[in-house]
Amino acid sequence: MSIGSERSVEFGLAPMEGVSDWPFRLWFSQVSAPALMGTPFLRATDSFPRFLPDDFAPEIGRYEMPYKIIPQVMASRPEDFIRTARLFLDAGASFVDLNCGCPSPNPVSGGAGSSLLKTEDSFLSFVRTIASSLPNGSFSVKMRTGFDDYNLFERHIDGLRELPLRQLTVHGRTRKDRYDGQSRWDLIERASETLPFPVVASGDVLSHQTWTDKKALHPKIPKVIIGRGALRNPWLFEELRSGNAVRISKRTLILTLASFGRIMELSYNDKDRLDQLVKSGLFHDACLADEAKWTALWTALGGGDVKDMIVERFAFGRTKMVWNSLRSSLPVEFFEPTLLRAKSLGEFLSAIESIGEESFVVTHSPEMDWLYTSSRKKPGAEEAPEDSAAE
Ligand SMILES: Cc1cc2nc3c(=O)[nH]c(=O)nc-3n(C[C@H](O)[C@H](O)[C@H](O)COP(=O)(O)O)c2cc1C
Repeated sequence: MSIGSERSVEFGLAPMEGVSDWPFRLWFSQVSAPALMGTPFLRATDSFPRFLPDDFAPEIGRYEMPYKIIPQVMASRPEDFIRTARLFLDAGASFVDLNCGCPSPNPVSGGAGSSLLKTEDSFLSFVRTIASSLPNGSFSVKMRTGFDDYNLFERHIDGLRELPLRQLTVHGRTRKDRYDGQSRWDLIERASETLPFPVVASGDVLSHQTWTDKKALHPKIPKVIIGRGALRNPWLFEELRSGNAVRISKRTLILTLASFGRIMELSYNDKDRLDQLVKSGLFHDACLADEAKWTALWTALGGGDVKDMIVERFAFGRTKMVWNSLRSSLPVEFFEPTLLRAKSLGEFLSAIESIGEESFVVTHSPEMDWLYTSSRKKPGAEEAPEDSAAE
């Protein structure tokens, strides 16, 4: 099925704390090639950061990458956001995103993230102060639709109308909703009709089908960012471009995971080598589902027999995190909890080698959605399984 008319819609990877960091983005651009990616939030305080942390967003000013990068900052005071945003802008960022959505207790109790949405004044005076200090179009806002309820959403949107924002991203849930229920695309679309700058929709795009359904109901959305759907199916952006679920070989799956582990390890243990590889242009051409390209990438990353792979604990842990979500989009035999108990990356990849067909389709499977509910309980099960996904 063609998605010709959808070419005008820009899809990006949503900012994700603990996930969408630099090595993840490097890898993810190889798997799925989204047009843009968001960094996780950088928490600015009165004393931090004084200069940009080295590996936070090296795409800005240091490397030419085939995707746009949007740095995000979270702050409790507008002056901390402004100071930090200037560091990014001076380094070459075209704009900087303000986090007004994080629901976690820590930022919320510190007056940052979604707590900015508690009153009309707390939100609008914060954003107005920023707008009066930074050049027009040099910042954007990412917000939820409210804190406890949706009552203030319309007034928040009205207040933004006169401000020179680059764009507004809306995750259509309140802080209280966390991830329960559905993202309110009807409210996002209404914001998009009201505001003179682009509105980016966030929430619940899991497959080409879910996108087609949303697009039919809300045809005027120009940009979409995707978080959890891209973790469950890292090939999702390719699925959205082609309109078809992506088929990969088992060898591709293994090389994809091995490359992730290796990139993670290099980002920690051998930054100079990673720097040379990025500068050599290695990451410019996405591998997508192409086994020959993954083989070439793997060789350039140092190669070797994946069965012997040993990486640092954190790199192995992150690879298992990727797998934990991804396996829910694979044929059911890959949903094997014992795999996650492997002691090394080599052992883990060998175990994957021994199961399933030689090629298969990766796509969202609605019957696995229980994994991502707040209870993480399979319908009919007494307890959430020990190894359920950590989103
Ligand atoms: C693990 C995780 C971390 C997140 N971290 C951030 C963050 O740092 N900044 C932010 O604005 N949103 C963050 N979000 C919210 C996402 O950007 C997105 O708005 C939300 O997950 C809804 O989209 P989805 O249904 O496509 O996941 C995070 C979401 C997840 C699942």
